[in-house]
Amino acid sequence: MRIDLPLLERRLDELYAIGAEPDGGAYRPLYGEAWAVACDRVEHWMREAELTVHRDAVGNVWGRLEGSRDAGGGKAVVTGSHIDTVRRGGRLDGALGIVAGLGAVQALEAEYGAPKRPLEVLVVCEEEGSRFNTNFWGSRAIVGAIQSGEADRWRDAAGVTLAQAMRERGLDPSHISAATRTDLDAFVELHIEQGSVLESADVPLGVVTTIAGGVHLQVTVIGRADHAGTTPMDLRLDALVGAAAMVEAIAHCAAVEGRPAVATVGKLRVEPDQINVVPGRVVFTVDLRHAELEACRNLTQGVRRVCETLATERGLGIEITTLHERPPVPMHADIRTGIEAAAAKEDVTAMALVSGAGHDAQILASRCRVGMLFVPSNDGRSHCPEEATDLADLELGTRVLARTLERLAY
Ligand code: HGY
Ligand code: MN
Ligand code: MN
Repeated sequence: MRIDLPLLERRLDELYAIGAEPDGGAYRPLYGEAWAVACDRVEHWMREAELTVHRDAVGNVWGRLEGSRDAGGGKAVVTGSHIDTVRRGGRLDGALGIVAGLGAVQALEAEYGAPKRPLEVLVVCEEEGSRFNTNFWGSRAIVGAIQSGEADRWRDAAGVTLAQAMRERGLDPSHISAATRTDLDAFVELHIEQGSVLESADVPLGVVTTIAGGVHLQVTVIGRADHAGTTPMDLRLDALVGAAAMVEAIAHCAAVEGRPAVATVGKLRVEPDQINVVPGRVVFTVDLRHAELEACRNLTQGVRRVCETLATERGLGIEITTLHERPPVPMHADIRTGIEAAAAKEDVTAMALVSGAGHDAQILASRCRVGMLFVPSNDGRSHCPEEATDLADLELGTRVLARTLERLAY
């Protein structure tokens, strides 16, 4: 079975150029112009590959190869990943799963003809949460986990609601439930590891055991805006100095807990954000992860406690909102075994590892069997323009993905 490597590279480069940012990386936020162009480009590739293309109610793109035995009837075997990116995102996060998924399906059809079961390539419309403070929008729609009215609640930095952004793309927020699928058998995703475990072990392929759990918090620190020139230091209620102490303490909570606990304050907004005004209000986000649910909850409680204590000590107000809490999700044992067997067929032993990063598979797991295979990230870098993986690893990952799909659909 031949993987068309030049085509894989060309497609990755084409996608990376869509939403390219001036200082490197790409940014394809949900329902934005780059997002729309990228979805159109993948749809074009799917049609060239003679897949039947369907766009669902939230903008996920599905490319389907009918099964010979269960044409139109049987549960589908699906591969793919997300098309959106973080700001200044890399060339492979999400894009690899889409391009390799399509390449694997094309290689299988060229080698063996039509599958027994329907094979689908899925472009998930959104996974990162980089435009709105919610994530997994595409996969949550597929499993029916979007709450009614949720699209009206999320706003981007410009105040545009997710519902308005949908309408601007010709999608109707009142029809979100039409995106639900109940006919999926398995979802297998190829993704970069985004860390340095595989590279440090000098192993070209990983098979995911569990996707770590995560909690996203929003913390609002309330002080008092004052004149920067006339307000003595001992009379200030400086929300930013308080928030800075909290950021330091949050990182310390995860450091004390030890690996694999991690804590990140990735977004912080200062109000009124003026050079000569003591900050009256600061809003920041907290991203907490751990592979065990109990430990994740303890970490969250510890972070809440330390922020509240610091606020009290400094006479500051504080509001802490949970944006979402996602438990750790184990991958399905039989899909994992299938990936290991497919790797063995390519004379490779896939290394079992926990995914510290979140993925659509953790959401789709409530509706079908799921599994993930990882390829190494050079220097463990991701979510940045430096994100890269050796070509030989990309080819091996695509080949083992194809072998895994072959076991499931042929
Ligand atoms: O945040 C994550 O773990 C994923 O990259 N969205
Ligand atoms: Mn990502
Ligand atoms: Mn990703």
